[in-house]
Parts: sequence; structure tokens; C-alpha cells
Amino acid sequence: MDRIRLVGGNPLNGEIPISGAKNAALPLMIASLLTDESLVLLNVPRLADVKQLERILENHGVDIAVHGRRRGDAAMDGQRITFTAADIVDTTAPYDLVSKMRASFWVIGPLLAREGEARVSLPGGCAIGTRPVDFYLDGLRALGAEIEIDGGYVVARAPGGRLRGATVHFPKVSVGATHVVMMAASLAEGTTIIENAAREPEVGNLADCLVAMGAKITGIGTDRLEIEGVDRLGGATHEVLPDRIETGTYAMAAAMTGGEVFLRGARPELLQAALDTLARTGTTITPETGGIRISRNGNGLSATDISTEPFPGFPTDLQAQFMALMTRADGVSTISETIFENRFMHVAELLRFGANIQVEGQTAKVTGVPELRGAQVMATDLRASVSLVIAGLAARGETVVNRIYHLDRGFERLEEKLSLCGAEIERIAG
Ligand code: EPZ
Repeated sequence: MDRIRLVGGNPLNGEIPISGAKNAALPLMIASLLTDESLVLLNVPRLADVKQLERILENHGVDIAVHGRRRGDAAMDGQRITFTAADIVDTTAPYDLVSKMRASFWVIGPLLAREGEARVSLPGGCAIGTRPVDFYLDGLRALGAEIEIDGGYVVARAPGGRLRGATVHFPKVSVGATHVVMMAASLAEGTTIIENAAREPEVGNLADCLVAMGAKITGIGTDRLEIEGVDRLGGATHEVLPDRIETGTYAMAAAMTGGEVFLRGARPELLQAALDTLARTGTTITPETGGIRISRNGNGLSATDISTEPFPGFPTDLQAQFMALMTRADGVSTISETIFENRFMHVAELLRFGANIQVEGQTAKVTGVPELRGAQVMATDLRASVSLVIAGLAARGETVVNRIYHLDRGFERLEEKLSLCGAEIERIAG
């Protein structure tokens, strides 16, 4: 299994291109199931999760043509991929495919809306909490679906072959449930209102794509979406928005090591809360044309508290990286995780660097230490893994991050992007 070896201590200086967002690309790819015409996606990142979803979509009969360069090529530009679901050949999403990635469960929405039936394995994904699917099922039931659980599968049917518009109120903000109900409602008969909808930029990116395909959606970017169902959707060409989590991760890496990095293609409005927080730590954030400049020269890091929140709050997907940063801050910071109940698995690994962290329930108290020391660590989930890289970049001596397949799920060419900015980092195969 591949590992990453790094030697800490170098400041980061240079430019990092930001890839298309994994969490936007995945639902956009799934939206291709809604139409028999071609959906062309631009700026698709080269990631293991994208490959995995391609396999799942192919199983349903989607024809996939990649026009951009593949992983391993020199260029860092995103891929252009055409998805054509002329015929859905199978409405079952099997366990062995779905169990690897939670987002693959989302095919249930388009399959049910277009084919009137779907049989989808209950999902897997990062082990960061129980991550139930009750909001999805209640939402689809509100649209008229009949649903039963059979042998680990969700079996859903639309009576008469078509879903009906309804009002869906989510008890808690859910990105995935918003994606699924919005896609399903686009082809339902009548109007659907989604209340307490997720406002994450990736939801807006999907909604804009659905509109380009002919859907009638208003309230995009707000917590109340109104979707007037249409009889059919058509093809479109749509761009995946830049990855705000990748942006925030490299911003925190630069804040950690010091130096000056330009994050090319990053858009500040996608992660304003995280950038404001970073500014409070003493990092300089300068939005510029075509990207964001991050610098920290000489001055120390101030301890800063955060609580994760749905967008536009501080994202849970940046919590682990921020905790890594705070291990070196002057003073004590408090980090509260409010979205997932088991998202502190990086703590045990950060302690191996000599960090001082105490966890009580959903809150971690991080007391900054003057120095981290390199260590052998284990990647546990996607964002936790990259927090270990950030710690390693600032640690004295050598760090080896094991089990890095998680990183490949969500970070394109991580070691290449960091080494171009002066980090001593390499992948060790085998
Ligand atoms: C998406 O997951 C992201 N994944 C996650 O990123 C991200 O952490 C999360 O949103 C929150 O921003 C993708 O976009 C592929 P939720 P999702 O439904 O949609 C509870 C990463 O590292 N809930 O918004 O699965 C749930 O347990 C990943 O890229 C229910 O209780 O998250 C959680 O506490 C990790 N019942 C909360 O809602 C449900 O039916 C929010 O989860 C659905 C969710």
C-alpha cells in the first residue's frame, strides 16, 4: 500500500492550482442519469472517487467518454467528460460498488425519477459517524415513493411510474438529501418545495446544472428551493466549481509552514468563514484576480476557536486541517464538531507528533506546543489524512503517512502540488 514520506520544516512558496471540487463533481455526474442526452462536465478532478462513481454509472448503462488528460499526465487542468445515459440498463446499485463511497447512494434520486424504480444498497463511506439515510427516504416518500428495506437494499418504487411534487422539510441540513430530493423533484409531476435545504456551493452548482438541463428551480443558494417538475430533461455542458476544501487545506498548510502561496482558481466566497478564521490566526489572506494569496511571514499563529456549521459556517471538512494548524498556535483553542459525531479520529494521530489535545464529547481543546516531531501515522478518513500531512509539513524530522488511499479519493496530485512549493514530500509505492 502506498505511503507518503515527508520531512518538515520548509516554508511553502509558489503557486498551487485548485482542482474541480470532488463534492460537486460527484452529484453532477449522477445528474447524467436524469436524461437520455449527453451531459458534458468540465473541470472534473482526477480522483479515485470519480473513477469509482464512473464504474457505478457504467453499471447503470451510462456511456462515459473522457476528453481531458488522465492522472499521470503533466498538465494540471481538469478533465472534460461526457456522460450519456441513453438507456438505463439496470436500476440496481449493488453493495460491492456502493459500499465504497457514500455519495453513490445518491443515484437513487435520478433512477427513481426517470425509471420509476430503484434498488440501491445502503451506503458506506468515511467512518465519521452513523450517517443514516432517513432524510432521503422521508423526502422520497413525501414525493410518493413506496420504500422498503430488503437485504441491505433500499427498494423504492414510484406508483404509476412517476413521483409527485410535495413539500419536504428536512429536520437538519443535509447536503446529500438536498441533492437527491432536488434531482428527483426535477422530473416529478407538480411542484416541490424543499425547506431547510443545504446551501453548500455544491448544491448550487448542481441546481445550476439541472436548470441548464431544463429543470425549473428557484431559490438557488437559499434554504428554500422550489422545483417545478418537467416531463423530461435534456443535455448540457456544465463546469465543476473549484474545490473549496482543497483551497482551505492548502491555505492552512501555508499558514502552518509560513511562506507565501497563490491558490490559482480558488474563489474566496466559497469559503469565507474559513478564510476569516485563518485571518484571525494571524495569516494574511489576499483575494486577487484569479485566486487567493495566503502568506504568513515570521509572526506566530494565534489560537482561534471554531465550531463547524453548515454553509456558510466553518465547514466540517476543514475541521481536522484546522486542528492540525492549532497544534502549533500560541495558546489554547477550542474546536467543536457539530455535524458528525465521530470526526475526531485524527486526534490520536496528531498526538503522535507531540500535540497536546484533549477531547470531551464533541469538543477538542488544543493547547499549542512549540514544536511537533515527525512520526509514523495512519490515515483514517479523507480529511483526517490530509491533516496529518499538514502536521508533518511543520514537524521536525521525518513523517510517514500510511494508508493514503483515502487521500487519493479527494486530493488530486497532493504530493506534486506541495513539492512544487518547496515541500519535501514523496509517495512511496508498495
Ligand atoms: C456531504 O456528506 C459531503 N460529502 C461530506 O464530505 C461533508 O462532510 C458533508 O456533506 C457535510 O458538509 C459529499 O458531498 C460527497 P450530510 P453528506 O447529509 O451529504 C445527518 C468529504 O470528506 N443525516 O450533509 O453525507 C448526518 O449524519 C465528505 O468529502 C441524517 O441524520 O452529509 C450528519 O450528521 C465527508 N440523516 C448531517 O446530517 C440523513 O438521512 C449532515 O450530513 C442524512 C444526513
